[in-house]
Amino acid sequence: MNVRESEAVEALLLAAGHERVAGEEDAELVIVNSCTVRQKAEEKALGKAGNLLAAGKITGVMGCAVKRLGADIFRRLGSLHFAVGPRRFSEIPSIVEKIISVPASVRPRRIADFGDNEVPSGLGAHPVRKPTGTFADVQSFVTVMIGCDNRCSYCIVPDVRGHEWCRPAEEIIAEVKCLASRGVKEVCLLGQSVLSYKDGSFAFPDLLREVQKIDGISRIRFTSAHPSGCTDALIAAYRDCDKVCRHLHLPVQSGSDRVLAQMGRRYTAEEYLSAVAKMRALDPEFSVTTDVIVGYPGESEEDFEMTRALMEKALFDNAFIFKYSPRPGTKSAQLPDDVPTGEKERRNQILLADQERRGVERNSRLVGTVRSVLVEGPSKRNAQRWSGRDSGNRIVAFEPPAGISVGDMLEVRITEAHAQVLIGEVV
Ligand code: 5AD
Ligand code: SF4
Repeated sequence: MNVRESEAVEALLLAAGHERVAGEEDAELVIVNSCTVRQKAEEKALGKAGNLLAAGKITGVMGCAVKRLGADIFRRLGSLHFAVGPRRFSEIPSIVEKIISVPASVRPRRIADFGDNEVPSGLGAHPVRKPTGTFADVQSFVTVMIGCDNRCSYCIVPDVRGHEWCRPAEEIIAEVKCLASRGVKEVCLLGQSVLSYKDGSFAFPDLLREVQKIDGISRIRFTSAHPSGCTDALIAAYRDCDKVCRHLHLPVQSGSDRVLAQMGRRYTAEEYLSAVAKMRALDPEFSVTTDVIVGYPGESEEDFEMTRALMEKALFDNAFIFKYSPRPGTKSAQLPDDVPTGEKERRNQILLADQERRGVERNSRLVGTVRSVLVEGPSKRNAQRWSGRDSGNRIVAFEPPAGISVGDMLEVRITEAHAQVLIGEVV
């Protein structure tokens, strides 16, 4: 969501006549888009903004940490020029104008627009990048809803991003059509809990079916999903829509029913596994990835072992592991944060090692298969190679054939498997 909203702000600033520079050193203005989902993320954002102010940049902070801190952000960063909450980013160009339209010596500071539950504007703004650049936009995020009403016990998102609000379906469809006309091939529909999307009786699976019809779009992804949304209607949409990628990021958070109930997740480990089984019944190579929290208050060794066992049964293709971080104002922040840091770290390392092994095993089965890869550009790790992703969102690296361009769809035979990347040859 933050990547998408940073892009929208970029588009709004470009439209107001500003220019994007190559790097931070050359910039007069830098805006830090903050996250507060864990304490560390928030500290990182504020630390960054402090350094920018010390370097003499006009500095603003946007995003979730602004909403959590409110006016306190100016106690932490006294000389900050502006702070804008997650639903108010469209105000940034006019705030910037206020700041730069006066001489540096009298520039206003501490301009605040924290916002509340209002309907945001600017959600559909996309920067137009040069089509000749190596990373021209072949992929684009499209926001379909904002906020979240799930209220998982540990999560600050509903407090900072507010109540769920869904964009009208026509607006989303029009945006995807416009992106397709600009050469975008893959869209990722975004929301905190996209499967809850609704516009009257038009629900998320209906949206998938409509986007499927748009010429020029060859892949549809979406994130993030709550397991309660894995309905038969969703499975049917997967079955009928060949553009919908065979990948689902489905955060499980824990494998212990006791912890899941405490977290307010509204499913059991068994229900979760049956959702995974439905996806894999559609296609055995269907990629399922997840988020897990270790060290939730009261998480015993037994609870933790249940998480390990669930991860083994689910055969996740990838997993993001987070150490529990109490967030002020959430339900679980009232419970003692009683799993020691060292123990959280130990559990984290165990799950990472399990996943590393499982990732290699899962990916090894793909050696010899041919994957359709949407080319993203030169590989970041190996200058000789280019990379892209298969339908399952797996990174595939290969030696580029002559005349290759970003956005090509290539067939690649897999020759080598690692936990996070597949290596192959273009066929
Ligand atoms: N502590 C640790 N991880 C958290 N997440 C959300 N809130 C917290 C928290 N308080 C994780 C969840 C979620 C991901 C985006 O961040 O796993 O799926
Ligand atoms: Fe947070 Fe996701 Fe739960 Fe919403 S569904 S409260 S964003 S963890």
